[in-house]
Amino acid sequence: MSSDAAVKICGVGKVFPIYAKPHHRLLEMLSPRGMERFRSDFHALKGIDLEIRKGHTVGIVGRNGSGKSTLLQIICGTLAPTTGSVEVVGRLAALLELGAGFNPEFTGLENVYLNATILGLGRSEIEQRLDDILSFADIGNFINQPVKNYSSGMYVRLAFAVAINVTPEVLVVDEALSVGDEAFQRKCFSRIEKIREAGATVLFVSHSAGTVVDLCDQAILLDGGELLMQGAPKRVVSLYQKLIYAPTEQQLEIREAIRSDTESVIAAQTTESTAVPEKAVKESTKLEAWYDPHLLPASVIAYQDRGATIEDAHLSTLNGRRVNMLVHGEEYLYTYKVKTRRTLSRVRCGMMIRTTTGIEVGGAATDPAMPQMQLVSADATIEVCFRIRCLLNPGTYFLNAGCLADTGAMEEYIDRRVDVAMFRVMPDHAIRATALVDLVIDDSIEWRT
Ligand SMILES: Nc1ncnc2c1ncn2[C@@H]1O[C@H](COP(=O)(O)OP(=O)(O)O)[C@@H](O)[C@H]1O
Ligand SMILES: [Mg+2]
Repeated sequence: MSSDAAVKICGVGKVFPIYAKPHHRLLEMLSPRGMERFRSDFHALKGIDLEIRKGHTVGIVGRNGSGKSTLLQIICGTLAPTTGSVEVVGRLAALLELGAGFNPEFTGLENVYLNATILGLGRSEIEQRLDDILSFADIGNFINQPVKNYSSGMYVRLAFAVAINVTPEVLVVDEALSVGDEAFQRKCFSRIEKIREAGATVLFVSHSAGTVVDLCDQAILLDGGELLMQGAPKRVVSLYQKLIYAPTEQQLEIREAIRSDTESVIAAQTTESTAVPEKAVKESTKLEAWYDPHLLPASVIAYQDRGATIEDAHLSTLNGRRVNMLVHGEEYLYTYKVKTRRTLSRVRCGMMIRTTTGIEVGGAATDPAMPQMQLVSADATIEVCFRIRCLLNPGTYFLNAGCLADTGAMEEYIDRRVDVAMFRVMPDHAIRATALVDLVIDDSIEWRT
């Protein structure tokens, strides 16, 4: 293994026996000399070759069932490969999917000791770090309860707190983090940043393409147990998107094209309807807006519904392609429908963009004096569209939608949705503006001698 590799995977395959009926497993065991086969083989991983350099952060993407968790478990040694070998250099800490890692009968505290010991820490080292672990997990007195009583959120908090406080040289994180709330996720990701700044190698599975693009030096795409490609995160993520949103009849061909990296085929397969960044393939240096189906607000708060309903709030490009991963500086449409159930007068529709922490960054509302909005009949559908230039700096943002009308003497919300949609502005090295909004500030420097 080359000296700068942290993880080296050679020809790794994993076969799971599949029994059509549970008792087939027993029948097979009882058959003469265990020879009769009642199983079929399922190849969860096929001939994976992969070398991960020290200090790199690698994102793994792929559909459900593509073998991501199986690969991570093999890297962590909790699952043995059927073929091939894995070498890991340095202390490895892992946050695998729920169920792995903790003993459910032990208390949180006992599990901290158990886990940290397995990770190679002595008792005094654990004691030194205990305060950090407990404060990061922030689960209060639950620490003295058996882990089986934990919610999945608490479980992940504690598991992550241990994993990051044992100063891992290799940190492996499966999708577990998606269980936590947004605030906790942020805390985890900022910790992952620190761990990688300290020189550790990080390997993680994420459904959020944005996170992979933001955090990783490299990404790999697994599909059907095969490593389809390995490369720059932006490119891997956009080809992954292309694969999953391609019409079924094109998927096989796109898959083969990605695997053999034949760009012409991939580009030729591209249609506007697949909602994937076409140019990103041909011209991987230019960012293109795209749609991440996992980027959905955790909860939409619906307020007053007094005679109208807001529906289908979404962002799109100017030619109508739905997107939620935006490019700084470009223009987008924010559209929603208002369906009325009664006659409304002096209708006004509004929008607001807020940050994750709730800061209102910008909003707009239609003109109440518009003639067609003076009296809107029942059972009408109004489509409201705002054209926005995205001057927000990279980050995650939420959208509101609201519809007001005059009800007697005053104006009132007829329907209002908070956090009805969310989007991200993608990081781009070309942006020099700082803070929340790009005020198109110019700079000049003169040398005075
Ligand atoms: N213990 C097991 N027995 C049989 N099949 C399994 C087992 N574990 C995983 N698989 C199968 O292997 C495939 C890959 O699973 P997994 O690695 O969990 O995928 P991912 O994490 O990408 O969603 C899936 O089809 C899954 O059903
Ligand atoms: Mg998985």
